[in-house]
Amino acid sequence: MRAEDLSELAGRAEAEIAAAPDEAALDALRVRYAGRREGEITKAMKRLPALPAGERPAFGAAANAARERIEAALERRTAALRDAALQRDLAAAAVDLTLPPRRVRIGRYHPITRTIREISRIFAGMGFEAVEGPEVEWDYYAFEALNIPADHPARDKFSTLWVQAEGSMEVALAATGAGRARAATGQPDRILLRPHTSPMQIRVMEQRRPPVRVIVPGRCFRFEATDPTHESVFFQYEGLAIDEQLTMADLKGVLYSFARQLFGGERKVRFRPDYFPFTEPSAEIAFDCFACDGTGVTNEGKCRTCAGSAWIEAAGCGMVHPDALRRVGYDPSKYQGFAFGGGVERLAMLLTGTVDIRLFHQNDLRYLESV
Ligand code: DAH
Repeated sequence: MRAEDLSELAGRAEAEIAAAPDEAALDALRVRYAGRREGEITKAMKRLPALPAGERPAFGAAANAARERIEAALERRTAALRDAALQRDLAAAAVDLTLPPRRVRIGRYHPITRTIREISRIFAGMGFEAVEGPEVEWDYYAFEALNIPADHPARDKFSTLWVQAEGSMEVALAATGAGRARAATGQPDRILLRPHTSPMQIRVMEQRRPPVRVIVPGRCFRFEATDPTHESVFFQYEGLAIDEQLTMADLKGVLYSFARQLFGGERKVRFRPDYFPFTEPSAEIAFDCFACDGTGVTNEGKCRTCAGSAWIEAAGCGMVHPDALRRVGYDPSKYQGFAFGGGVERLAMLLTGTVDIRLFHQNDLRYLESV
């Protein structure tokens, strides 16, 4: 064997190693060519002593060169096989990024909740604190203390849902311990689902001294047929401000500011005299109808949203009646104030373009996801 044979051997080994299909085949080639005991290079080296002295250096150098080439080839192939295995594993575990993702359904606040929060936010900016009151109420707070005694015709418009009539009074009073309502009238009281948020005017004044500035959003109940603008369960917001210098001008200013902040400058606002037993004088505020743009008619004829009136009444309001002030121990010659109360749904309808109030409570996702 000569030096050239070693180069040829290395060439053959390189080719076989490069073609080794797997780790096992590669190991066999490693043993065969580079094995310490029986490998081809080792065997060649063993012949070294038998060579003529003059040939030994060249042969030894050729053997070393061949070993280096073979080892380099083994390393390359090992790396290549590992890389191929890794690529196979990755391909097997691959995520298909072109697969359309599952639709994410993001939750949202109900339009009524959003509207209540917006109302509270705007009034907070004018110094009104948001408070809440009971949905189940005493006749005293709902009517009596608001100048609406039992035989008053104003009761008719509050088609009341009674929880408990006079017969079982003692049970009701004991259960809730509402001594104040009873003591104030000296009479047994009746329990009802509040038909408006105005009872909170009395409750708040009973518990605070002026200055008072509160906004009271809350659920109300009336026994009535539903139509596009009426529901038997609905929300109101009540406002109350009591101080030493308040006038009707403050009331108008606050409500105008509210309307502008809620709808922007575009909505028209109408202020008209009205009557409520617990305010004197009283007024009614209305916004022009969004569905017919204040014309009272749409393409389909008479506007269903405003019933053709062109206006949507938004709130009742007025200066708090001196009787109500006296009843809670405020001196009407020192304190006066204004109150207002309106429907949340009406405002939510204006804000979302909803033309039928019943949509708010039907839990129809097609509607709820569209507003
Ligand atoms: N509570 C009345 C209603 O539901 C609305 C109302 C009118 C509230 C005048 C007020 C007010 O605070 O001052 O019809």
